[in-house]
Amino acid sequence: MSGGGGELPEGTVANLLEQETLKWVFVGGKGGVGKTTCSSILSILLARVRPSVLIISTDPAHNLSDAFQQRFTKSPTLVNGFTNLYAMEVDPNVEHEEIGGAEGMDSLVTELTNAIPGIDEAMSFAEMLKLVQTMDYSVIVFDTAPTGHTLRLLQFPSTLEKGLTKMMMLKNRFGGMLTQMTRLFGMGDEFGEDALLGKLEGMKEVIEQVNKQFKDPDLTTFVCVCIPEFLSLYETERLVQELTKFEIDTHNIIINQVLFDEEDSESKLLKARMKMQQKYLDQFYMLYDDFHITKLPLLPEEVTGVDSLKAFSGLFLKPYQPLTSRGNVEELVRRISTLRKQLKDAEDELERLNKG
Ligand SMILES: Nc1ncnc2c1ncn2[C@@H]1O[C@H](COP(=O)(O)OP(=O)(O)OP(=O)(O)O)[C@@H](O)[C@H]1O
Ligand SMILES: [Mg+2]
Repeated sequence: MSGGGGELPEGTVANLLEQETLKWVFVGGKGGVGKTTCSSILSILLARVRPSVLIISTDPAHNLSDAFQQRFTKSPTLVNGFTNLYAMEVDPNVEHEEIGGAEGMDSLVTELTNAIPGIDEAMSFAEMLKLVQTMDYSVIVFDTAPTGHTLRLLQFPSTLEKGLTKMMMLKNRFGGMLTQMTRLFGMGDEFGEDALLGKLEGMKEVIEQVNKQFKDPDLTTFVCVCIPEFLSLYETERLVQELTKFEIDTHNIIINQVLFDEEDSESKLLKARMKMQQKYLDQFYMLYDDFHITKLPLLPEEVTGVDSLKAFSGLFLKPYQPLTSRGNVEELVRRISTLRKQLKDAEDELERLNKG
């Protein structure tokens, strides 16, 4: 730990590796900012210090397969080149037959889904958590879908609660009518409302138990991934506020795709982008001074395949040092002369414009 005195927390994810009690790590943020890349790397790093790690993608547009360059399914598969890192891709858009197993059940679920939007998703999420809980992984990393979706995922316990209340109400109001109807349609009791109710009840238990774990900062944390741009800053703030509302711990932010001024680029576009990024970087540091903020450079190439992921992972533990800030006197002299030249050019340009 840093020794106070207004010092910023360390700018790496080392704290996540050191927190041995951690069981659930959510990684989320806006679309395309690098959630899959960062969650994959986190899982690789965790696999070095934990007996077993599972990474789960809950994004319907699965991209763990792209990141690791290996096909994954809805059951955990060992990642090539590892002995203790598993990956799975689950579809949050539920397949009803997996819940009920019969047509009649399907229609009841559809009915319920119409009454309580999101209940089907909540149920499949509960099923998945139930499964994962029995599998005994040391830590589970979630590569979540873009923000809106993630927040819905965290609301599932209350969605289920509502579903259950609604079912109870229906049951009380219509008495045995539903049961009669299910009989009428030739369904046995095991597919009737009681079965569904029982199922919901069971899921609620799992969800409640998991929800308790999600709210325990010893067990769960949420890593926000973003880029230094207005929309992403805005969305991160919204995410952090929602997480606080749901009492879910978050104290790591990864700012991806940062441009570092290391090649003394002459590109005006690049310079302008860097200036813009700096403005938002400053705001991130100001707003989240108690967070571990990890800055990652924008690379010239994509980060795919275990080798690239591993190569990039170093920067999660040791802050990136751009060439220029590593530089010596010569380097600085060179930079100053470049800046002088740019200033001179700008002044000439201004003079030219003033003259009309
Ligand atoms: N720092 C970086 N430098 C260069 N390329 C990067 C960097 N981080 C991520 N990428 C690449 O950008 C693309 C998007 O990254 P990634 O898939 O991790 O984002 P995502 O947030 O999961 O996107 P989605 O919201 O679509 O799931 C990928 O091709 C990835 O290899
Ligand atoms: Mg992704």
